[in-house]
Amino acid sequence: MLFKQLLEADSCTYTYLIGCEKTRQAILIDPVLDTAERDLQVLEDLGLTLMATLETHVHADHLTGAWRLKQRTECQIAYPKMLDLPCADIGVREGEPLRVGSVTLYPLFTPGHTDHHHAYLIDTQVQKLLFTGDALLIEACGRTDFQSGSAADLYDSIYSKLFSLPGETLVYPGHDYEQRFVSSIAQEKARNPRLGCGRSKEDFVALMDGLDLPYPRKIDFAVPGNEDCGQCPANVPEQFRGPCLASDQG
Ligand SMILES: [Fe+2]
Repeated sequence: MLFKQLLEADSCTYTYLIGCEKTRQAILIDPVLDTAERDLQVLEDLGLTLMATLETHVHADHLTGAWRLKQRTECQIAYPKMLDLPCADIGVREGEPLRVGSVTLYPLFTPGHTDHHHAYLIDTQVQKLLFTGDALLIEACGRTDFQSGSAADLYDSIYSKLFSLPGETLVYPGHDYEQRFVSSIAQEKARNPRLGCGRSKEDFVALMDGLDLPYPRKIDFAVPGNEDCGQCPANVPEQFRGPCLASDQG
């Protein structure tokens, strides 16, 4: 398996490239519009063909690169099936593994950050890699105060679907804001200040309800844009239009 972790610095989003060494097919988990050209260059450098983009959820903090990458490579766009997005080519859901050459990704339905969020597990003979999106972050978790979020659901998802995996499972988050790259299930169970050390659901819900987080600066255009697979809506403010214009020309 080929694997590369890529960062989009403005939204601190991690994009993950997963490829099959034999077939040279690849998939990108949570690509960002702003770094679509970088991603295309990485694929070219590695001699890989992009088969699909794969979203963990409809993001509120950045526009996905899915549509742009589809225009440039004719890849398919995969989203959680329950969203039933007209722009998506593939609907993913738990119980229906996704194959990229010899690599298999297992979708795990993990609502809470949003009601349609999915994590993805790769289970090789050597190691387990878990792409947690915005459900479980390194010593943190995704917020639950907008976009169909539910702290109680997030707690249940993390404890039943993620913390139940073997401790050595590597945790690759959708974001990190402090230059951290990877964790593990054992590390998060022991060290996550919001969820670790067996914190109760009641405690967690109270903590999340009291966070009082700022309104996301891109949500008003990111959510409708991402429900359209990353096509820029008309309401993208001037200071964020750069990647949209490049897309129009591409
Ligand atoms: Fe998110």
